[in-house]
Amino acid sequence: MTLREGADLAFLLAAVCFVLGLHFMNSPATARRGNRVSAGGMVVAVAFALALVADGGTMDLTRWLVLICGALVGGAVGIWAARSVLMTAIPQLVSLFNAVGGGAAAMIALADYARRPTQGSGTDLATVLDVVIGSVTFLGSLLAAAKLQGYASHPVTFRGSRALQLALVVIAVGSAVAVVARVDSLPVLLVTLAAALGIGALLVLPIGGADMPVVISLLNAFTGTAVAMAGFVIDNVILVVAGALVGASGAILTKLMADAMNRSIPAIMAGGFGTGAAGSSTPGAGGGEVRSVQVEDAALQLAYAERVVMVPGYGLAAAQAQHELRELASVLEERGVEVYYAIHPVAGRMPGHMNVLLAEANVPYDQLREMDDINPEMPRADVALVVGANDVTNPAARRPGNAVSGMPIIDVDRAKNVIVIKRSMASGYAGIDNELYLEARTAMLFSDAKKGLAALTAAAKSLVG
Ligand code: TAP
Repeated sequence: MTLREGADLAFLLAAVCFVLGLHFMNSPATARRGNRVSAGGMVVAVAFALALVADGGTMDLTRWLVLICGALVGGAVGIWAARSVLMTAIPQLVSLFNAVGGGAAAMIALADYARRPTQGSGTDLATVLDVVIGSVTFLGSLLAAAKLQGYASHPVTFRGSRALQLALVVIAVGSAVAVVARVDSLPVLLVTLAAALGIGALLVLPIGGADMPVVISLLNAFTGTAVAMAGFVIDNVILVVAGALVGASGAILTKLMADAMNRSIPAIMAGGFGTGAAGSSTPGAGGGEVRSVQVEDAALQLAYAERVVMVPGYGLAAAQAQHELRELASVLEERGVEVYYAIHPVAGRMPGHMNVLLAEANVPYDQLREMDDINPEMPRADVALVVGANDVTNPAARRPGNAVSGMPIIDVDRAKNVIVIKRSMASGYAGIDNELYLEARTAMLFSDAKKGLAALTAAAKSLVG
């Protein structure tokens, strides 16, 4: 068997590992195994790719040194980032990985083009698509990471931004067509790249509030597509397979998220859909005052309820309070209270964020209720306990003209009583006031989620005792 044939078999094995890995990630119980299987496939793929490079006879000492140093530095940064990242900052890290993937894919196409003796002689569509999609992803994902980190998380728009976006699309398409039509010019391809970078920036800057999760999975799909294109450019089958898997799963996730959020993908890509007027929402329908509650009173209300619905959000993740939430639920259940957890599709900062947190605290799956299942049940809940969730409970979403308009919410305002645990009246990710806090049936328990839940548990236990 030649090395080439051995490599093809190894790439097939790696592709099988990737698919199996994705399959195992369907459930939190097998997700770790999925990670290991996929990583194993990647090690095999990289080893055989290196063997092919070594066999190709194109490497000299300098090139090997550059390659090894690059791998060492990149690997070290990757390991450090993965080990030190806080759970709440994983979405930003994923966005940075998307940027790196898209940027690397674009550079592969650019380097391949620049290396050709006469550039215009053999440029195919894949090269140009790789440069365009990779560049859009690179700058778009960097800005998305910054937005997730809290920099300019509001929609950023300026006069003429749509006209500029259109002009950049025309320039990108025009120069790309010229390159494919064999205009022999690296500068023209660089114009394509610059226009695509601009498109990436203008794609993400106007996004805010409820649209951000959809854009992140869209950029993830773009990264995969750019990598697949890079595979076509350098004729590497495993890059095509891995890229196609990421592209396809990212596209499916994007569609699911957009449907769950009542959003249209083309409208989001056109920019600023659903962002409405940034800043405050109009005052709540109740127009009432904020009412705060003490731990003992809140515990009493919970302990004497028949049905309690827990509504976790980003603040629960930030406080790492999932175990305390579970403990409170157990104490209430000992008293015969029925407890459920309401899961909003974009609560937290990444898809499935709440499911992951609650699984970590061993919350039984049968107590988790998706938003569409729990909402009709909400009027039967004696208490909705909102823990660090904000935007996903904001009734302002039912009206047009604000940053969460149209986003489906957990209907906590339809429960008989609402207790909200958060530290202050600060807004959530979308940056607008929450009308729920002014409702007459809402009581605010101002506290860090972990401390507040621990105090509630202690108070509820004393009632049980
Ligand atoms: P948010 O609206 O972001 O609100 C979280 C609330 O948690 C804040 O108002 C904050 O109020 C509170 N909080 C923070 N730290 C806390 C702590 N230690 N203890 C107690 N409370 C704490 O969260 P959400 O309701 O989960 O909504 C998610 C938002 O993120 C949506 O707008 C969504 O579109 C967006 N988003 C989601 C994703 C995905 S994929 N899930 C990705 C990007 C963006 P205080 O400061 O007053 O405590």
